[in-house]
Amino acid sequence: MSLKGARERRVHTGGIELCVAELGDPAHPTVVLIHGYPDSKEVWAEVAERLADRFHVVLYDVRGHGRSSAPKPLRGGFTLEKLTDDFLAVADAVSPDRPVHLVGHDWGSVQSWEFVTVQRTEGRIASFTSISGPSLDHFGHWLKKRLTRPTPRRVAQFLGQGARSWYVYLLQIPVLPELAWRGPLGKRWPSMVRRAEGLPRDGYPTASLPEDAAHGAWLYRDNVRSRLSRPRTDAYAQVPVQLITPTRDDFLSERLFDDLSGWVPELTRRTLPAKHWVPRTRPDQVSTWIADFTLAQEKAISTPGGRASVTPETTRATRATRATRATRATRRKAMSQKPYTERFGGQLVLVTGAASGIGRATAFAFAEAGARIVAVDRDAEGAERTAELSRLIGAPDAWAEVVDVSDAEAMEKLAVRVAAEYGVVDILINNAGIGLSGPFLKTTPQEWKDVLDVNLWGVIHGCRLFGRQMAERGQGGHIVNIASAAAYQPSKSLPAYSTSKAAVLMLSECLRAELSQQDIGVSAICPGFVHTNITSTARFAGVDEAEQQRLRERSTRWYGLRNYPPERVAEAVLRATLRNEAVVPVTPEARGAQLLSRFAPGVLRRIARLEPPL
Ligand code: NAI
Repeated sequence: MSLKGARERRVHTGGIELCVAELGDPAHPTVVLIHGYPDSKEVWAEVAERLADRFHVVLYDVRGHGRSSAPKPLRGGFTLEKLTDDFLAVADAVSPDRPVHLVGHDWGSVQSWEFVTVQRTEGRIASFTSISGPSLDHFGHWLKKRLTRPTPRRVAQFLGQGARSWYVYLLQIPVLPELAWRGPLGKRWPSMVRRAEGLPRDGYPTASLPEDAAHGAWLYRDNVRSRLSRPRTDAYAQVPVQLITPTRDDFLSERLFDDLSGWVPELTRRTLPAKHWVPRTRPDQVSTWIADFTLAQEKAISTPGGRASVTPETTRATRATRATRATRATRRKAMSQKPYTERFGGQLVLVTGAASGIGRATAFAFAEAGARIVAVDRDAEGAERTAELSRLIGAPDAWAEVVDVSDAEAMEKLAVRVAAEYGVVDILINNAGIGLSGPFLKTTPQEWKDVLDVNLWGVIHGCRLFGRQMAERGQGGHIVNIASAAAYQPSKSLPAYSTSKAAVLMLSECLRAELSQQDIGVSAICPGFVHTNITSTARFAGVDEAEQQRLRERSTRWYGLRNYPPERVAEAVLRATLRNEAVVPVTPEARGAQLLSRFAPGVLRRIARLEPPL
């Protein structure tokens, strides 16, 4: 694999010769892409190609990698201080008069965190996009906090990240990693990583991999232990940072970045439902976000009254204020922030039944978490209102679509339109549903059809159409189906509704098994009684209109007294998506019924015979 059309030059620093490649017009803003471990600059080939028409794109092989020379001796030659010297030498060579926009992946990001938090780079960096590589200093504080102030959750996070870092311990062993990389591991790595990460077959990694990996072991040995045990206390970012977190990263827990807003005064978070090597698997999305962020920062710098231009003077003057602000205000803000703030940054979320109740609350929760929203409902006005409010709450974009989910043809058209206009849906919430109450012997075939058409077929259409698009895209995704506690709790008063929801639950389980191969998670949410409009629209079989109305009013009163808010169901939806939970009962009665269905189904059967309270 090569960087098509790249101009190459050599930059000398501290006895090292760095191989630097450039694409695009040097008059454009400079974006420096730094690779990780075990990689070389070619890992960025696809991203660089996509940026080259608008930016001056610069890539270099980190010392000891690709066609850059290695320090002698290797020990002590890869410290963050020396890597900072290299970056500054490259920045001075390619963009002597203007600060550069930095982008790092994996170890490229780890070292870039050093660059954006130390004083001597002031005025040389305009912004930083970090992908899958934490600051070792922030990581050190994160670990310390979990060790010195342990709670069950913090201990679990500590152990979880500890397990993902297995390779870091191995790389500390002398000589063996080098032997492995220059021997069997070096030969097998390309196919191993291709299979594990779903990478394209395109000649990457390059032939230098065994040597890159052997040398790169010193990145870990020279820095990890010393920094994690004695993290800097002043590692505040001096520039705006965009954090792109792949949610299925096998090496890094998303939790690592929970405290980041305390270190970064201007932080933009984005998440990608993808594994670790996103520069290779998601070049379109990654380059779009880099371009958008970079251009926004350029605009802020050049706008009168916008962010002051980045010079050593301005940064030094603001440094102390910013650090104080970062420690106090933003940390306080971070503490009070909702747990999912920006966790779904930039993802496309489609919610059916979004005009009311659980659907609307779910759309709002995702909007607040930074997602783009497609609000689908047969109620045009309600859907439009949800989209409008989603934008106000924080969704970068939100659209309303008017569709009856039970209409197969309309759903097909919706799927085509959404893909063409907004992109492939990352998260699908099949929520639209209607209520039907009354004994089986009084329920008409038409009433059965109505409830199954919406509650079951609506979900089938959604899963089939949007699930297929997700599978074909090959970049994972998540489907949430709103079932109900009625799915596992029999009741003599809800035969049709419960049957539809039991079918949704089983469909979700089957689909979860099938789509796991494609990295698409499926969750079924099973709420109990939630205070929404469902009671005022539900039908009651076998009664006249006057009785119909009386029963609706009675159940609305009862649900009102119960008063469980749809926002709490929405929160469960976001959590299930992040954790890929299979079946999630929400409300105490739903959890109780689930326990009984497992351990005392006889009790549940007896409850099913009771006259319902509504
Ligand atoms: P809701 O009545 O407040 O909202 C349902 C939304 O779905 C409405 O905006 C409605 O216009 C829309 N909708 C209905 N049929 C549609 C169709 N054919 N095509 C497009 N949109 C349609 O009800 P709620 O409570 O928010 O219900 C949401 C989901 O949660 C449903 O699937 C429901 O069965 C389920 N659920 C609700 C519980 C509750 O106690 N509210 C408990 C357990 C599950």
